[in-house]
This record gives sequence, C-alpha cells and structure tokens, in this order.
Amino acid sequence: MGAVSTTFIAGALLIRKGLAPSIGSLTERGTVRLGKRNEGRSPLIKDFVPLASLDDLVFGAWDIFEENGFEAATTAGVIEPALLEQVRPELEAIRPWAAVFDQRYVKRLMGTNVKQGPNKRDLAEQVRADIRAFKQEHGLDRLVMIWCGSTEIFMTPAPEHESIAAFEAAMDSNAESISSSMVYAYAALKEGIPYANAAPNLSADIPALDRLALDNGSPVAGKDLKTGQTLIKTIVAPGLKARLIGVAGWYSTNILGNRDGEVLDDPESFKTKEESKKSVLDYILQPELYPDLYDDLCHVVRINYYPPRGDNKEGWDNIDLVGWLGYPMQLKINFLCRDSILAAPIVLDLVRFLDLAKRAGMSGVQEWLSFYFKSPAHAPGLYPEHDLFIQLMKLKNTLRFLRGEDLITHLGLEYYD
Ligand SMILES: NC(=O)c1ccc[n+]([C@@H]2O[C@H](COP(=O)([O-])OP(=O)(O)OC[C@H]3O[C@@H](n4cnc5c(N)ncnc54)[C@H](O)[C@@H]3O)[C@@H](O)[C@H]2O)c1
Repeated sequence: MGAVSTTFIAGALLIRKGLAPSIGSLTERGTVRLGKRNEGRSPLIKDFVPLASLDDLVFGAWDIFEENGFEAATTAGVIEPALLEQVRPELEAIRPWAAVFDQRYVKRLMGTNVKQGPNKRDLAEQVRADIRAFKQEHGLDRLVMIWCGSTEIFMTPAPEHESIAAFEAAMDSNAESISSSMVYAYAALKEGIPYANAAPNLSADIPALDRLALDNGSPVAGKDLKTGQTLIKTIVAPGLKARLIGVAGWYSTNILGNRDGEVLDDPESFKTKEESKKSVLDYILQPELYPDLYDDLCHVVRINYYPPRGDNKEGWDNIDLVGWLGYPMQLKINFLCRDSILAAPIVLDLVRFLDLAKRAGMSGVQEWLSFYFKSPAHAPGLYPEHDLFIQLMKLKNTLRFLRGEDLITHLGLEYYD
C-alpha cells in the first residue's frame, strides 16, 4: 500500500464519484478501430470487450506498515489532501493485512505488520487465507493480484525455480532463493488468480511459477511498469531507429524523493532496476542488425534519491546522435513527471485486462500486455518486444482477435484498387 497502489485506489474511487478525470487509462478512454478505415467503426475499448466496471472494484492490500489506505495515501503525498478528503471513509476502511516480508530482499525497509510462520509455504498459506476471507467478506466473484511492493534485490533464476516441486521444497526449507514477492505470486497462482508484477524483481518470472500459472488457469504479466523516463525512451528510440539515425550515447539520470527512491538508493535494489531499464535500448535499436549505428552505444542510467522532490520525479536524458556523413547532433529531454500519476492508470488497465484474459481462458504469460512494462515477459526463445507502438498494435489486435474481428495489418492496398 505504497505510492502506486494508493494513487490507483484513491484515483479509482475519485473517478467513480466523478471527482477527477481518468486520463492515461486505455480501458477508460482508449478506442479500437474495427474493419476498414472508411467504415467509421472505432468503439471505446470498454464497450468492445466486457471489462469489469469501476463500480464493481473492491480493493485490499498487504503492507509492512499498519497505516490504513487514507494514512498511506497521505504519506505517499501524491494526491492533494483536499481531494483525498473526498474519499477518506472508503480509504480508511482499507486496512492492510500483515505482510510476508524479509529484510534480506528489501534492505532499506523495516515494518511491524509482518506475518510469522515456520516456513515460506506456511506464509503462502496465510496469504491464501487472506485472499479467501476477502473474497467471502465482500461477496466477490473474481480477483486479480498486482505486486506494487518495493523493488527487491537483484536475483537470477536458481535451480529451486525450475519446477513446482523444487519451488515448494525450497519454500519448506526457507531457501534464500524464494523472495517475499514469490510467496505472494505463488499464493495467487495456487488460487487461480491472475498476477502482475509492477516492479522489476524476478517474482513470477521463473519456470516453476509459469508452470503453476498454466496449470491453474492464471494469466500472468510483468515486469516493471513502463512509466517516466523509460516510457519516453521507448517512444523516442523507435523513431530514431526508423529513420536510421545513429546513437553514440544515451545518458539518463533522474532525481526522485519518494519511498521507492529510498529503496532504490540501496545498490542491490538499484541493480534490479538498472537491468530492467538498460535492456530496453538494446532490443529496440537491434545493434546486431545495425552495427555501425548502434554497436558502440554507451548507455548509462542513474537514479538519485533526493527527498525534496517526493513523488515528483525529474529526469534528464542526453542523447548523442550521429547523422548523414557521420555528423554529430544532440537531443536533450527534461521530463518533469509524477511517477505514481503515470503508474496508476496502468494498474487499472492491468486489473481489467488480466481479469478479461482469465475469463477468456488465457493463462501463463500474456505477451499482449507488454505495452505496460519495461521488461516484458515473453516465451522462451523469443526476444521481448519493446517498441511501444508495436506493443499497442499487438494489444489491440489481441482484443480484435478475442472478439472475432479482422486483425489490422495496415497494408491498405485495397483502398487503391
Ligand atoms: N511509480 C512508478 O512509476 C513505477 C514504475 C515502475 C515500477 N514501479 C515499482 O512499483 C513498486 C511500487 O512503487 P511505489 O512508488 O508505490 O513505492 P512505495 O515505496 O511507495 O511502495 C511500496 C510499498 O510496498 C511495501 N512493501 C515492501 N515490501 C513488501 C512486502 N514484502 N509485502 C507487502 N508490502 C511490502 C512498502 O512498505 C511500501 O508501502 C516499486 O517496486 C517501484 O519500483 C513504480
């Protein structure tokens, strides 16, 4: 129940009451073109596919801090106090369940609202009990879990992640290779609930949990919401590559002062984030296909914790370009953004699309939701698709496919027959 989740929850409550606009959400405002360009059919996505209505959403959360939803949103400091007051009772009613937490995975945090148990399997059972009680208490039909917890330390897949049996044995023996976020993911997938990871840590992105998702009919998406500097990077980079403009260097730095910034100040958590942010350019620019344009690219990413800014991040990009006849040019981007304001509508979209996927019988990795992530999950043997515009086309074509509409290829020769 940090900045992203409280901004999502409070935002959904405010929009529901007509007190604020739902800008930035595809499931609220996006349209999808159907058929030929001269047919004039572009319904709202929410009218085209059956999505859960905002009025039907009920929110619950875990956190290591005991603050209720109103207090947590106030601490996050994203939404102004006068606006938060308008949904105060609904937010106060959300009291976080005790968390599965071990400081080994998030060094900069310490809290008291933490579950106790003999081993990680037992903790997962406690999470499952929370889920069932929540479902019963509110008379819910369907659930979705999104990890909006802190970024855990950098971990690589281990033998314990290879199969469900190895994973469960590792939970029983409290193996270090099972992080807290994996315990939540396991609990969700065991319940057949869709799971998305808004953060860059490994979490469900391992063969054991992939298998569990397929076996239990749970759609899965991740990792690391594409907001802020990386969003802009994946908008600008495909454009440069499309025009075959060389990139000699891309230096990205930013300052932020929220709790996420504090957690990322720890080198081990930062490494997880850095890996996620840095992979983007390699995949978009494809240096193996254009070695003289992108092979020597020097890509540097820095995050600096700077408390005075709170959630209002400022990012600077300096891009060293190379043009016709090898002449150098520079592009500077200065983005004054609000991290959680960019992230919250994505969480809403993920909740609705994952719920749709579940009802459509889709399970395992949902590559069509790559649009929302810095490190999109994908099938083994594929490279991830990072280009925002290809990702959007894939997402909309998936919706067309689900509804039996023609896919759109943009060939368009028939208009000139
Ligand atoms: N805001 C963005 O634009 C953005 C973009 C991409 C990714 N993210 C990621 O989303 C995550 C959330 O970001 P935020 O700004 O809300 O951070 P935050 O620090 O405000 O919130 C994280 C919350 O998770 C809680 N937490 C940590 N470990 C937990 C555990 N094991 N169980 C339960 N609760 C736990 C913390 O106490 C905190 O309240 C971070 O990992 C961040 O890197 C954010």
